[in-house]
Amino acid sequence: PNRVTVRTIREMKSKGEKIVSLTAYDSSFARVVDEQGVDVILVGDSLGMVMQGHDSTVPVSVDDIIYHSRAVEPQTKRALVMADLPFMSYTNPDQAIGNAARLMQEGRAHIVKLEGGEAQLDTVRHMTRHGVPVCAHIGLTPQTVHKLGGYRVQGREDDAAKQMLSDALALQDAGADAVVLECVPVDLAQQLTEELEIPTIGIGAGRNCDGQVLVLQDMIGISSLAPKFSLNFLKDGRGIPEAIKAYVDAVRDLSFPTDDQCFF
Ligand code: KIV
Ligand code: NA
Repeated sequence: PNRVTVRTIREMKSKGEKIVSLTAYDSSFARVVDEQGVDVILVGDSLGMVMQGHDSTVPVSVDDIIYHSRAVEPQTKRALVMADLPFMSYTNPDQAIGNAARLMQEGRAHIVKLEGGEAQLDTVRHMTRHGVPVCAHIGLTPQTVHKLGGYRVQGREDDAAKQMLSDALALQDAGADAVVLECVPVDLAQQLTEELEIPTIGIGAGRNCDGQVLVLQDMIGISSLAPKFSLNFLKDGRGIPEAIKAYVDAVRDLSFPTDDQCFF
């Protein structure tokens, strides 16, 4: 199969085909996740929690992401491999592009993801000018958990919702290729999805996003604290490949997420 690219996911949005994303942090899982048809494999900084045992993503380094991304990408044939820029690795455009280059060259990532809206516009523009594909991540941005005062739904107040919409449109104008929406009320996520030309990939953001993403360990039910928006697909006698396939199918046929995994 042909490799999924930023063009592919944009076409999927325009055709109304759901984009399926899942994390993978090692070679064995990367191969299975790729084989089961996941479109975008995320080497996310949630590895700080599920691989390293920290209670946030704050301690994760660029080297940590590279270590996992190098193990993942060579095992994939079809998926677009996305890697997170970790906390404090993109505080200005030059630092960001230097670290993005490392994720792509040493880590073999195809696209990088960073958290933030307005504050990241210059960085997104800089990366775009230099041919680095970028996915933005807004709503709940876990790297700023200590500033946010906990993991909570974002955009419930009118002002916050307006800000999120203007951030998303500005990120698109700056050249972002996609945007992750985390813990955003269903109606706001739908509005963002309708107003943007680039795909939205939701986690705790309702079924009207252009795609969905989950952390693999949550999806197979082995996280110590599974968030409300995740679901265990490793049940009914399924093995791991079948559980991943069930997740892929559930996103495509709109049976995941259900209202239980959403915020209103
Ligand atoms: O690191 C991660 O797993 C993520 C997803 C929650 C989108 O950023
Ligand atoms: Na992340």
